[in-house]
Amino acid sequence: MFISFEGIDGSGKSTQIGLLQAVLEAEGRSVVVTRDPGGTPLGRELRQILLHHKGEVAPGCELFLYLADRAQHVVTLIRPALAEGKVVLCDRFVDSTVAYQGGGRGMDGGMIDRLNQQATEGLVPDKTILLDGSVETLLGRARSRATATATAKATVPDQTDRFETLDVAFYERVRAQYLNLAKESPARFIVVNAVQPPESVHQDIIRALALNPLPKT
Ligand code: TMP
Repeated sequence: MFISFEGIDGSGKSTQIGLLQAVLEAEGRSVVVTRDPGGTPLGRELRQILLHHKGEVAPGCELFLYLADRAQHVVTLIRPALAEGKVVLCDRFVDSTVAYQGGGRGMDGGMIDRLNQQATEGLVPDKTILLDGSVETLLGRARSRATATATAKATVPDQTDRFETLDVAFYERVRAQYLNLAKESPARFIVVNAVQPPESVHQDIIRALALNPLPKT
């Protein structure tokens, strides 16, 4: 069973992945938690470039780096884990590229779909949990977390995530694209209100997954 988590920065994906992992493991399931980009050793190098490269990154270059990370991730980690009957919880997957590079940057959606298909060899998550909420609120959270981390680590400004410098309009387009995707694939997407306490978000996810039970693998 392959479950991806999506949402704009600050939507609380990692907290929710940890909470769901604990529930699934308590049920005796073997769970692999991973992230896109950065789920493999090669992917971690690509993630560093994608998020922290100091110079200009052309949109096409950015797109292919996300796809390169994903191709490596699918072949070396996700497919083998699924073949062993594990539950894979993935922080972002194909929908992030449709939302960020398609919606956010305005790149062609048909092209992104074809390239995603190539990179994943057609692998699509069984369920996708979209943590949705107002851009202002979620970005505000992401920014205060980034500031707190930078202060704690005394990080220099050039370590700031490239995406944290983008404007609200960019993230409004990303959010709109996510909501379109959810409308187009209602059987796969579970849209959850992310602007509530983490425990309430978690309960919503559990309830929604129980309505769409996981196969006993
Ligand atoms: P993360 O910090 O949530 O792991 O995400 C890293 C950033 O990369 C985040 O701002 C979203 C962005 N991103 C894309 O633009 N396209 C993609 O395909 C993926 C997976 C992430």
